[in-house]
Amino acid sequence: MSRSASSQQPLSWWRHAIVYQVYPRSFRDANGDGTGDVEGIRLQLPYLSALGVDAIWMNPWYPSPLLDGGYDVADYRDIAPRFGTLDDARRLIAEAHDHNIKVIVDLVPNHTSWEHEWFKAALAGGPGSPERERYIFRPGSGPNGSLPPNNWVSVFGGSAWTQTEDGEWYLHLFDISQPDLNWNHPAVREEFRSIFRFWTDLGADGFRVDVAHGLIKDQTFRDVDDPDKALTVSIGDDHPHWDRDEVHEINREWRAVLNEQEARLGRELMMVAEAGVSPESLPLYLRPDEYHQAFNFDFLECPWDRDEMVDRISDAIARADAVGSASTWVLSNHDRVRHATRYGLPVDTDNNEWLMHGPYEILDADLGLRRARAATLLLLALPGSTYVYQGEELGLHEVYDLPHDVLDDPVWARSEHTFKGRDGCRVPMPWTADGPSFGFGSAGSWLPQPASFATVAASAQDGVTGSTLELYRAAIALRRELWVNAPDLVWDNEERNNVLSFTRGSLRCVINLGDDATDLPHGDLVLSSNDVTGSVLPGNTGCWLRS
Ligand code: GLC
Repeated sequence: MSRSASSQQPLSWWRHAIVYQVYPRSFRDANGDGTGDVEGIRLQLPYLSALGVDAIWMNPWYPSPLLDGGYDVADYRDIAPRFGTLDDARRLIAEAHDHNIKVIVDLVPNHTSWEHEWFKAALAGGPGSPERERYIFRPGSGPNGSLPPNNWVSVFGGSAWTQTEDGEWYLHLFDISQPDLNWNHPAVREEFRSIFRFWTDLGADGFRVDVAHGLIKDQTFRDVDDPDKALTVSIGDDHPHWDRDEVHEINREWRAVLNEQEARLGRELMMVAEAGVSPESLPLYLRPDEYHQAFNFDFLECPWDRDEMVDRISDAIARADAVGSASTWVLSNHDRVRHATRYGLPVDTDNNEWLMHGPYEILDADLGLRRARAATLLLLALPGSTYVYQGEELGLHEVYDLPHDVLDDPVWARSEHTFKGRDGCRVPMPWTADGPSFGFGSAGSWLPQPASFATVAASAQDGVTGSTLELYRAAIALRRELWVNAPDLVWDNEERNNVLSFTRGSLRCVINLGDDATDLPHGDLVLSSNDVTGSVLPGNTGCWLRS
């Protein structure tokens, strides 16, 4: 079926890269202020290099009031003082390159922070001013314009509009502190082209683009039939602001800038879309003059089920292939419940929200981690690139019992305390088994770490046979040697309940998704996610074989 990247495309680095996602605030705190920083990331470069990653993607590190974890950017061309300076960023990028690690920065084009100078000027300029045209301001509806202009709702809950003191309303698809930009304004278009140039000139190799599917809004600003449903992205639904055709023009504009920069700088550059669109729409973002790749959230949301996985993997490979892109696998990130935890929750496929928010009292944490480890062997054997979220290589679980008074995610307040939000996957990293904040820094950490971090800290797993850290190290190293240039994927169709199996040339990847042991196919065992003895593959275990 699918063609492998190797047989059809020149193997650009991003097509097969292992990209490690760094959440700067929670990675490592070098200056002891309780918050991670750029210097902390630099200090961990040897760790990342030993892990074998090809690139790091940094969540936003720009000046920001941090009302949405930095996705509220006040200045796109600087580093937040709490994280360091632009010189620190330059040095980090240069040293990462010395380690053969590329650097991807996070670009947030849908909205700025309300502390961005453009938004301050828009508020000061008043209704009708040119400064307001860079955002989406509208008069209200109802008596004296006292009601929002329409019934659109924010992704984080509540109305998507907030009224200013002079009576006009501004649109924010996310938090009130994140006013949406007007992408029909030439100055907005030019500004972002220039930001692409700025970071690539500084050394960045790529961009992860936030909410890539949301930039263009229906200019009639009509009410929608079902505001909550308008937030979902299934095809054919009524979407006033997601996945609108005109967004592709912007994608092409950016790709042209990257192509120019690539030629000028002599380095291969890329951009990856965070586009929450249907699997059918996603390939449109991946056409040769648009994004290089886009996260495959369809697979992230896949239940632990053989047939579902086979379908979604086949679709993703075929769809990416059809437009000359490469599949882009991811299981965890800073917005999702960590997959070691998700896989330990009973799966209710009809209700993704339920899966994302518990119920944690029936969590089987050991089972979740066991499955997560098997899933790692699956992903690393597939054609395409894989994104690894910081801490998954330690087998970290979601910290789902954070006390209410420490919650920082705007989702908690805006959902009127219905959803705790995403802090549970953002708890600072445990580097050592003891010490203040488990080696994260010399002081405490901005979110409390659980006592269980002592046993999963990197130092407690380093060199320990069978630890999750050593499994990741071994798998990433072997992947480069075995799978990156392996031939096309061919499914083994032998009917075996809940056993997923495929070959690529002389290599075979087998994942037993069932609870019961199964026979191990013939071949030399190269690596397994849990102990395998004799010719039996235990339940919830994956392995690589060579014939
Ligand atoms: C993306 C980010 C998320 C952020 C949102 C608004 O989905 O991943 O963390 O809250 O965009 O910028």
